[in-house]
Amino acid sequence: MSESILLLGATSAVARALAHRLAKVGHYLLLAGRDPIELERDAANLRLRHRATVSVCYFEALDFASHPAFFAECLAHCPNGLYGAIACHGVQVEQAAAISNLSEARRMMDANYTSIVSIFHLAADHMEKRGVGFLCALSSVAGDRGRQSNYVYGATKAALNTFLDGLRNRLAPKGVHVLTVKPGFVDTRLTWGLPGLFLVAQPERVAEDIHRALGRQRDVLYSPWFWRPLMGVIRAIPERFFKKFRL
Ligand SMILES: NC(=O)c1ccc[n+]([C@@H]2O[C@H](COP(=O)([O-])OP(=O)(O)OC[C@H]3O[C@@H](n4cnc5c(N)ncnc54)[C@H](OP(=O)(O)O)[C@@H]3O)[C@@H](O)[C@H]2O)c1
Repeated sequence: MSESILLLGATSAVARALAHRLAKVGHYLLLAGRDPIELERDAANLRLRHRATVSVCYFEALDFASHPAFFAECLAHCPNGLYGAIACHGVQVEQAAAISNLSEARRMMDANYTSIVSIFHLAADHMEKRGVGFLCALSSVAGDRGRQSNYVYGATKAALNTFLDGLRNRLAPKGVHVLTVKPGFVDTRLTWGLPGLFLVAQPERVAEDIHRALGRQRDVLYSPWFWRPLMGVIRAIPERFFKKFRL
């Protein structure tokens, strides 16, 4: 199996772990991000370790005007068409900053949600025509219920979840798979130094779960698995009690 797969936010810890898994089984990878030196270093490593075919593309999620040209460049690297795209980019602005500074809240909404709408619609049209492929995005358990400590970030992920639900509904009859990934806490730059973390997973574990879920054409993945029952309980708590918790 050798399909072309685009990794957006390819310097993210989860994307890096995923790239090794995908390269190992023979996929052609397009690493997209905003740090060309890091991307070239990763590409060289993947070529050396897995004899993989890897290309690098510059991608700035917040530069919406550049997205059509960026996507056209991705397609130019894939003579047989783009098979899959995985959105791993995202930011978590500190809650106090997101509350007090609307431009910070908007930056997070644009990075975590609007940019995925923009790129995935370009990719969806391409895959819909081909009648094959997949779209996958890293959401978060934080999108399952708003909590006072991170509801602005959580809302960006809740918007993403609903978008992906709808996209799945649109693309499933056309043979295109859409996977929503909801990790719990993961040991990456994004969570470095954050207080109150528990049950923290390694990025390799999340990458392994994503790879398996893509193979099994799952719709929604909680990673690690125990976040599914945990979030089921949290979602089931009636709002009249939940609003009194300091979470
Ligand atoms: N870590 C967790 O506990 C956790 C839990 C649930 C969900 N997630 C989600 O998982 C995804 C990956 O996060 P991570 O934990 O692996 O964090 P990470 O290592 O900090 O990766 C974040 C990635 O997003 C990229 N990025 C940020 N803003 C961008 C922009 N404007 N344009 C292009 N790329 C941009 C970063 O690129 P640069 O290298 O250029 O900065 C980096 O590649 C995020 O969507 C995050 O919300 C993480």
